[in-house]
Amino acid sequence: MSHLTGIEADRLERLSAAENDRFEAERPVSRARLERARHTMPRGVPSSWMDDLYEHPPVWITHGVGARFWDVDGHEYVDFYVADLSAFCGHGPPPVVAAVAERMRLGNQFLQPGEDAIPVAEHLAERYGMPKWQFTLSATQANTEVIRIARNATERQVVLVFEGKYHGHVDATMVVLEDGRLVPEYDGLPGGIEKQTRVVPWNDADALERALAPGDVALVLTEPAITNSGFLLPQPGSTRRCAA
Ligand SMILES: Cc1ncc(COP(=O)(O)O)c(C=O)c1O
Repeated sequence: MSHLTGIEADRLERLSAAENDRFEAERPVSRARLERARHTMPRGVPSSWMDDLYEHPPVWITHGVGARFWDVDGHEYVDFYVADLSAFCGHGPPPVVAAVAERMRLGNQFLQPGEDAIPVAEHLAERYGMPKWQFTLSATQANTEVIRIARNATERQVVLVFEGKYHGHVDATMVVLEDGRLVPEYDGLPGGIEKQTRVVPWNDADALERALAPGDVALVLTEPAITNSGFLLPQPGSTRRCAA
């Protein structure tokens, strides 16, 4: 693979800026939706990260079917991303739509367990080989719970994460390495948050061993591959070494 020279990098930047301008100009209805939404939603989006996810302003979506979706300006997209894989069955898959519709017809919130939870937990236990399951409405909430469980079980405080991670809006994970120093990733986090979090470069098993050595880490929070900074696979053998 050849490296980009300074001139090519400039050219690439200009091309990318021109493409983003064109993309934006072709979406006037999306632009109008954003302006309207700014009156009732901070930054004009339902979740704050949506306004700077891409170089262009957010695109407002009307609907999706299978591997395609459409925006308010009538553009059709082929979706290679499927919402960060969270919609991995595609958009509006008929069996899921039918099951959810049937559940809604029967009522879906009773503040008591619904019996459907039992076969789902049994299926997950069998599929993933993990014996016990609890349910949350978001990964943020799941990670918040698991950190508390780990701190309670280990009587340790420190949460270890890898560079390039994203684990949701969980305070304990919102710390980044900057010039070798740990700094809070956002404003408004509790003071001293960086003392309870350790950030280790991905695929650096030696650094991981050093970070675990003090014996104060409650849990290592990771994805099997880092998916929020490209798609970084673990080097062969590194997961075995971590487990050891
Ligand atoms: C690896 C990972 N963990 C957690 C989250 C947060 O998920 P949620 O929005 O369900 O809280 C995301 C969202 O992109 C993610 O990619």
